[in-house]
Amino acid sequence: MTLRDLCPALANKAYFNYGGQGPLPDPALEAIIASWRTIQELGPFSLAVWPFVERETTRVRDALAGLCGVAPHRLALTENVTSGCVLPLWGLPWQQGDVLLISDCEHPGVVAACRELARRERLQLATLPVQQLCRSTPAALLPDAVLASLDQHLSANTRLVVLSHLLWNTGAVMPIKAVAERLRDHPRQPWLLVDAAQSMGSMPVAEAAAAADIYAFTGHKWCCGPEGLGGVALSERLLEQASPTLMGWRSLRHEADAGSPWHRDARRFEVATSCLPLCSGLATSLELLAAEGSPEARLAGIRAASGQLWQGLQAIAGIHTVLSEPPTAGLVSFALQSAESSGLDAGCPPGSTPGQGLTAKHAAVVRQLGERNIWIRQLDDPESLRACTHITTTSAEIDQFLAALTEAV
Ligand SMILES: Cc1ncc(COP(=O)(O)O)c(C=O)c1O
Repeated sequence: MTLRDLCPALANKAYFNYGGQGPLPDPALEAIIASWRTIQELGPFSLAVWPFVERETTRVRDALAGLCGVAPHRLALTENVTSGCVLPLWGLPWQQGDVLLISDCEHPGVVAACRELARRERLQLATLPVQQLCRSTPAALLPDAVLASLDQHLSANTRLVVLSHLLWNTGAVMPIKAVAERLRDHPRQPWLLVDAAQSMGSMPVAEAAAAADIYAFTGHKWCCGPEGLGGVALSERLLEQASPTLMGWRSLRHEADAGSPWHRDARRFEVATSCLPLCSGLATSLELLAAEGSPEARLAGIRAASGQLWQGLQAIAGIHTVLSEPPTAGLVSFALQSAESSGLDAGCPPGSTPGQGLTAKHAAVVRQLGERNIWIRQLDDPESLRACTHITTTSAEIDQFLAALTEAV
């Protein structure tokens, strides 16, 4: 059986929202249930259960650390991408006037956390423009263009750069290792925070994860794990310098002693009781993904599908893709050419009026495709629609989507 056959979510729909949430394969769901049952059978708070808890936690930590190319002591388990970004970020030693340089393609939750940090610590915010570069630069030249933009926007006081590995809105891949090298040459050696929401599970990440200070991801998107469990790979220098921000007994080296020092390793960013069965579920999903091929081989499959989808979009009048070349990974963003020419007024969602603009037109497309059990999403910046392909995406599914989209526009 292929991974696709194991996912009930894919049996009855054409699914293109992997960047929002991946499907949970049956064996992962069964592993979660079995793990929960084992905990109950052994005794939920008993001497008998701790070896099982330790085994399942270690199993998923080791698997995630392996994917990130870091030793397990550099890997903290978190709840989601955002907490993986925010917990270590807020624990860094900031000085008034430090500049946080944030790309213009970051997720609103992470940007909001940076803004609040800046307000409390009296830091400055600056923007690293990359969105326009993605649109106008051929993929082969994009790394150099991003580095040139970085050089232009770094200042003497820059203390942090925030840049996603795979941009959630344009679908372009950022040269994280090269950015990390550039930052090492800067007199203040700014920290590098990488949002890996879209890269982890969809492409090889080891080089980037090992180079970043904070490489934060979730298991519930491209890794096809359950929602509620993610992780973050942390650099050695961050482990030396950052304090925990939301702390509890799991952050302590000796959990029963409030006076104990924090864990020296990444566990200082883990807090307290969490849902252990999710570890069993995610570890199982990761094993299923690994059985489908290496990260490189899986990316090749993902790209073949996203390339087919991107090519198909070129042939639909009234649509333009955000990237002018087939994407390097599995995110394909596109937009209606203009509100007036799309002819979608009849399909405007409740509460919107005809001619209300591109946003309403895009919402109408999402709804119309949804009525046919084809699922994509809408994005605000840039105003666009996004369809994702994974290794589970079939060619027939892409054709079905393209035909339905052609009808909708
Ligand atoms: C780039 C990016 N960052 C962060 C998030 C938020 O993820 P989470 O809810 O796991 O924190 C998302 C979710 O779509 C995302 O795409």
